[in-house]
Amino acid sequence: MKIGILTGGGDCPGLNAVIRAVVRKGITTYGDQVIGILEGWKGLLYDGMTEELNIDEVSGILHRGGTILKSSRTNPYKEKDGPERIKENVKRIGLDGLVAVGGEDTLGVAYRLFKEHELKVVGVPKTIDNDLPGTDYTFGFDTAVNIATEAIDRLHTTAESHNRVIVVEVMGRHAGWIAVEAGLAGGADMILIPERPFDIEEVCEAILKRHKRGRDFSIVVVAEGAKMPEGTEGEGYIAQEKEVDAFGHIRLGGIGHVLAKEIKKRTGFQTRVTILGYLQRGGTPTAFDRILATRFGIAAIDLIHQGGFGQMVSLRANRVVPIDMKVVTQKIRTVDIDLYNIAEVFFG
Ligand code: F6P
Repeated sequence: MKIGILTGGGDCPGLNAVIRAVVRKGITTYGDQVIGILEGWKGLLYDGMTEELNIDEVSGILHRGGTILKSSRTNPYKEKDGPERIKENVKRIGLDGLVAVGGEDTLGVAYRLFKEHELKVVGVPKTIDNDLPGTDYTFGFDTAVNIATEAIDRLHTTAESHNRVIVVEVMGRHAGWIAVEAGLAGGADMILIPERPFDIEEVCEAILKRHKRGRDFSIVVVAEGAKMPEGTEGEGYIAQEKEVDAFGHIRLGGIGHVLAKEIKKRTGFQTRVTILGYLQRGGTPTAFDRILATRFGIAAIDLIHQGGFGQMVSLRANRVVPIDMKVVTQKIRTVDIDLYNIAEVFFG
């Protein structure tokens, strides 16, 4: 078979491990020809955006972050005759199947193209946010949590030396998974997430209580998608710019600064802010993410050969199983409140 593979949306550690697995098993087990599609869905809208992937091209990439195929947030449904052009290009290239590696946006498009244009596609779920429905974990998340945890550990020592409150802003647009897991692992004194509206007075009271019992510093972890409460500066989402991307998302970021100002105003403590940003997405994947991404890649090429189009691979109770890709059109997977409740025991 001639199989295409593309990576779309925000990059994350582990994408190269998926590509490597698809190419290795496709070529050695099935005798496939594998074609890399460049820059996500964009690579199927234009000519000349493909390259054949042989064993050599995927050698030495397992531990490398990013994606050798590059990525974009191109939405074919926002381009003139987008879906039709994709169909024509798939035919012209002669693809018998396509592996789409992405989050809710990339896989949402894959599902629509499957339903409306009979595109022979299988999905592989990825996002550092870990908020895709249908899978217990997406790869990239574990790496992001480890990076954020190390940052919190480091910030602890400097916060303690200076008796400061340090606000650490992590990614997580709609769900606070990174904030909760890194905050829990790093011993955060407060964790603020999009799923749980917060009261600024209560946050400050908890910090004051902690300082009263002799702990002169605090670490507050906040997800970029948390909302500032009513009546505070900035109120609501804090965005970096008003423009939305091709999937209608605004670029969030900056709540850490707004929050730190409020904390300083209400407690009088010195506050500092660290925004981890793209550090959480760059660089080498953890062993967990390399293994999960490899398992997903192997399962995806098998799924193609089983004719499981319109499905995506997923992790359920530590087994990799196929699931109807329609699941990505459902409500995002928000933080497990039981986990948040555990983290909450250590607040203040
Ligand atoms: O979806 C993953 C993610 O890293 C989010 O956590 C973040 O809000 C967003 O992507 C940033 O997107 P961009 O790469 O377009 O700046």
